[in-house]
Amino acid sequence: MKKILITGGAGYIGSHCARILADEGYEVVIIDNLVKGHIQAIKDFKHYIGNIGDEDLVAKILSENKIDGVMHFAAYSLVGESMKMPYEYYSNNVGQTMSFLHSLIKQGVNNIVFSSTAAVYGQSDVSPITEEVVLAPINTYGETKLTVEKMLKWFNIAYGLNYTSLRYFNVAGAYETGEIGEDHNPETHLIPVVLNVALRKSDKLKIFGGDYPTPDGTCIRDYIHVVDLIYAHIKAYEYMSAVNTSDIFNLGSGGGYSNLEILNTARKITNCEIPADVEPRRPGDPPILIAASKKAEDILNWKRKYDINDIIATAWKWKKSHPDGYK
Ligand code: UFG
Repeated sequence: MKKILITGGAGYIGSHCARILADEGYEVVIIDNLVKGHIQAIKDFKHYIGNIGDEDLVAKILSENKIDGVMHFAAYSLVGESMKMPYEYYSNNVGQTMSFLHSLIKQGVNNIVFSSTAAVYGQSDVSPITEEVVLAPINTYGETKLTVEKMLKWFNIAYGLNYTSLRYFNVAGAYETGEIGEDHNPETHLIPVVLNVALRKSDKLKIFGGDYPTPDGTCIRDYIHVVDLIYAHIKAYEYMSAVNTSDIFNLGSGGGYSNLEILNTARKITNCEIPADVEPRRPGDPPILIAASKKAEDILNWKRKYDINDIIATAWKWKKSHPDGYK
């Protein structure tokens, strides 16, 4: 049985990774400092509380557990916050990761799947975006993720560390049972924000911008279900370790939904009115972000299972049963 170390396993995507790896017969070990994560999400798994940059702690984890591979999610991930706190974003996302990779190399752990982002592309004019599109982040968050992608490339060349960087587009939805889900503070992502209005936790949705060059004037995004996303990680790990290679893949659906379409779909699924107003644009939002995901489909043999209705329905199931998140 393969044993996978998950960094950031108490967070939204990391906790789904832990659950699904266990479903698929992997052994799971988690490291999380609980700055953003939730202890409730990892109580069923072997876990260590601390920073990934703590080389003594990581050495202890790697000596106590025979780790076959790593899935690395631990990071700060809010675009707006990253513009106000670049030091914290570089220190956490780049600095801690560098020390962590050093620990892996010292112990001979050779396979890592890295959680990257569509934010590495910035405001691309190309649609759908392929992996070859020019890399030009327009925010600190995207820049820190791109810096780690580059670090992985050089570490691969020098130390033989295999990596797969997965560039996520808009991740949403929840594990089908509704036991785990998205719980951020503050919540800024469109789907959970819309569902918070449906739950009457806030009065109105603010739609940021109605004058974009899109059919209905609102931004278009490419949504991928968190469960589909994790299956891509498993495929990526299996491929990387079997073929002994490194690569980069987009993960999205190849299609887009406007913010208004998301709102209207959520109204149907929740059967709630969900009041909304169009407000001024949010700085830094590209009008359209759609992934070309063909490379992952072709090379990793990955297929999506869930559509936008499933994404919103599973997120709603989680929200209804946990209106205050993990609290
Ligand atoms: N939006 C609203 N109202 C809200 C929240 C969001 O109208 O209350 C809009 C945004 O303006 C945007 C769309 O909904 O047009 C999606 O916004 P999100 O904040 O949900 O997601 P982003 O597309 O901004 O961010 C996502 C990921 C980031 C990643 C980025 C890459 O969440 O991690 O894509 O551009 F960096």
